[in-house]
Amino acid sequence: MKLCLAKKILKNHLVSGDFISGSEIGIKIDQTLTQDSTGTMAYLQFEAMGIDRVKTKKSVAYIDHNTLQTGPENADDHAYIRTIAKKHGIFFSKPGNGICHQVHLERWAVPGQTLLGSDSHTPTCGGIGMLAIGAGGLDVAVAMGGGPYYITMPKIINVKLTGSLNPCVSAKDIILEILKRLSVKGGVGKILEYTGDGVKSLSVPERATIANMGAELGATTSIFPSDEQTYKFLKAQGREKDFIELKADDDAEYDEEIVVDLLSLEPLAACPHSPDNIKKVSELKSIKVDQIAIGSCTNSSYTDIMKAVEILKGKTVAENVSLVISPGSRQVLNMISQNGGLSVLISAGARILECACGPCIGMGQSPSTDAVSLRTFNRNFEGRSGTSSAKVYIVSPEVAAASAITGYITDPRNLDIENNIKIEMPDKFIINDNMIIPPSENPDEIEIQRGPNIKPFPKALPLSDNVYGKVLIKLSDNITTDHIMPSNAKLLPYRSNIPYLSEYCLTPCDKSFPEKAKKYNGGFIIAGENYGQGSSREHAALVPLYLGIKAVLAKSFARIHMANLINNGILPLIFDNPSDYDDIDELDDLSIESSISQVKNKTVIIKNKTKNTEYKMLLNITDRQIEMLIHGGLLNYTKQNSRL
Ligand code: F3S
Repeated sequence: MKLCLAKKILKNHLVSGDFISGSEIGIKIDQTLTQDSTGTMAYLQFEAMGIDRVKTKKSVAYIDHNTLQTGPENADDHAYIRTIAKKHGIFFSKPGNGICHQVHLERWAVPGQTLLGSDSHTPTCGGIGMLAIGAGGLDVAVAMGGGPYYITMPKIINVKLTGSLNPCVSAKDIILEILKRLSVKGGVGKILEYTGDGVKSLSVPERATIANMGAELGATTSIFPSDEQTYKFLKAQGREKDFIELKADDDAEYDEEIVVDLLSLEPLAACPHSPDNIKKVSELKSIKVDQIAIGSCTNSSYTDIMKAVEILKGKTVAENVSLVISPGSRQVLNMISQNGGLSVLISAGARILECACGPCIGMGQSPSTDAVSLRTFNRNFEGRSGTSSAKVYIVSPEVAAASAITGYITDPRNLDIENNIKIEMPDKFIINDNMIIPPSENPDEIEIQRGPNIKPFPKALPLSDNVYGKVLIKLSDNITTDHIMPSNAKLLPYRSNIPYLSEYCLTPCDKSFPEKAKKYNGGFIIAGENYGQGSSREHAALVPLYLGIKAVLAKSFARIHMANLINNGILPLIFDNPSDYDDIDELDDLSIESSISQVKNKTVIIKNKTKNTEYKMLLNITDRQIEMLIHGGLLNYTKQNSRL
């Protein structure tokens, strides 16, 4: 059988299941990554499994999210992660070393291997030909323990790129074009595999930008072939031994195909407040800009930052604009400081931030009230910047840098820019891994440091046979994990303190939600389409679990969030008849009788005692997930089945 690249890698890692779309497969995981805001919980869960040493080829713990330290909480979390990593066989990337996906691409990603990360942008490493998937912390903990990762066999989409990009048009515009065509739901249950002549002209960091934002499509992952460009990148990283050539068989079969003619693209922008609200930059005239941020795991590679350097050379940032730049890694910062690029940026009036997520996760740089912020990041959901009235546009580094000079959203093709700002990747990157701490060879000597901010995580109970409670909140479509569990500079230090976080659960939608959840001893959440889109934040399931949420009734769910709900023993129920949603009101009394047998049948009747009606709900999940829900989540299920 002719295989596409994604299926070749899946086949090499298959532990259970068949390649039938919609059926469940289990795959062996070679590498894992965690970042600090999801990592503390993942390591608490790993500890709860009682395994001494990770069983992966490589596991890396990054500190990149909560690097502002305005109290002891973040520092306590970092110390916990550092010591647990040292003890259990995990490499530890210190704060300041860079953003997890950028550093992982540079130093660890290997074509043909599998990577599971507790961050939704883990697919970034698909740019190097790795099968890289974002998941909840508990899934990553199980993978570190050697357990398989289970997914529903995705459909594979052939994204055929033809031609090559025009000057001032970049990889970001390719993925924005795909978002325009497919929308934030268009990749759900799919892997995007990039093929075609157009791939050849894209460097690994450019491919990584595209793979990174596949997450905004809701895709399981995105993958590029491993070819001469991949060899060039690995050689420049001193890792040519990791190279293998990988591509789809000729005439491989795909479930769908889309074609993007690179030559026809022009600079694009994702307008407020969704990554698929795409317009041409040339159409966004006279929009005054207050803030510009270049960085994030999407666009902070050496070539990205050097494009900004080329555009800003000899220029001055407009007086109304605050331009902040966060290089994606210490390697990038080192490169631009040695070649003089850093000096160009400083001279132009840019503010240089540390190599971390920074403004992307709301760690500083919240725009002023009603401000327009242009960012090279990947998400522009309302309020994610820390300012609910701000309007965030997602653009390429070229558009960001050009707009920094004029103070208005600017098409870089209209600026007098020399040499088409095509930046070549260097033949050799500066390699210095002295901020990556290897695990200890004497783990018994390592004591785990646990600060007072590290509280036990809530544990799900086996499914009760009679589930009942009130509707605590009724939500609309496209509720994000940012709505469910806000993530801002004030809350990030409490990622290992679920009781504290619970005071903020769903408060962007209803300030009184936590109070109601406590008053009524938990209950039900009602939601529209695509509930839980956005980040892989497991806290968006852990905190509702702590507040006693028994089930979420939605028209549809985002993939990672649905898995996180199941992992934590919360029923993700889908309306068989979406119009039943209209019938339910807040504080209605709902119940599920004989829950265990109903859940086993994957069809659940919800009785609305207030309205004296009932609704048919579906559990579109696998038999293994049903067992997990009955046992009370993945941890209980894993322990009871001794799966590791
Ligand atoms: Fe960090 Fe933002 Fe990426 S939070 S991992 S830079 S999406």
